[in-house]
Amino acid sequence: MSETAEAQRPSSRVLPHELPAALRDAGLVNWIREPLDDAVDRRRRIIFPPAAAVKGTPADGYQGALLAEARHPDTVFMMGDNPALPKMPERPVLRDFFELRFSKIARSHLLQSARVATANGLGEKVIMACLLHDIAIAGLLSANHGYWAAQMVAPYVDAEVAWAIEKHEALRYFPDESVGYTYPEAYIDYFGPDYSPPGYIRAEHAAARQHRWYMTSRLVTINDIYSFDRDVVVDFGEFEDVVGRNFRQPREGLGFDGSPVAHMWRTMIWPNNFL
Ligand SMILES: [Fe+2]
Ligand SMILES: [Fe+2]
Repeated sequence: MSETAEAQRPSSRVLPHELPAALRDAGLVNWIREPLDDAVDRRRRIIFPPAAAVKGTPADGYQGALLAEARHPDTVFMMGDNPALPKMPERPVLRDFFELRFSKIARSHLLQSARVATANGLGEKVIMACLLHDIAIAGLLSANHGYWAAQMVAPYVDAEVAWAIEKHEALRYFPDESVGYTYPEAYIDYFGPDYSPPGYIRAEHAAARQHRWYMTSRLVTINDIYSFDRDVVVDFGEFEDVVGRNFRQPREGLGFDGSPVAHMWRTMIWPNNFL
């Protein structure tokens, strides 16, 4: 996106109609976009934060205030394209999500992870699983990210790839010295040295260890760990052929193929829709 286009994006600095200063200070203005350009219409758009994003934070207490804002005649809730986000094509493919929706850090992490797996001479199933393993963090939700990601891709990839993605979340917490995998240093920083995963994660790990695809998922965790270099830029094109052979891109576009997970892709296309 050019600098000019960047400058034309709607500013988020707009004051609510009648909110007391205390509510403004609480950050509510972050959810209100000033009138959009004529290409959309002149009304203000309110973004209603998803429950999963605000639960347990002060913003959870202000849903009523946001609902009240939307009752003003020149104000509506955000639905459809948010001009603050790049427009997605009508029939989006996996690459479009990487380039137009995924967060920069997560995108880079996924591409680097797939590159490391390739350099290590691993098979295409492992490379695909590495490329996709954190897409939920990149574009949807972080909590339970392995499970979300596995469901998102299940209709389009080999069952082994989806399984490996799902289980990598639990396997990350448990060393496997037979293949040189140790507990991630990053997790000590993220969660503290005293963090201990909950029972369901322990049970998932124990079950996964017995599974015939265990090593596929374990390889995801091995190629996960060394691949956080923020200065390295990897182009998605590097994996276009692997993706072509291992990801069944629906003709109608991801989000519009009527699959049981289409809504997850649509949520990434229009993440700010009120409903
Ligand atoms: Fe992960
Ligand atoms: Fe990862």
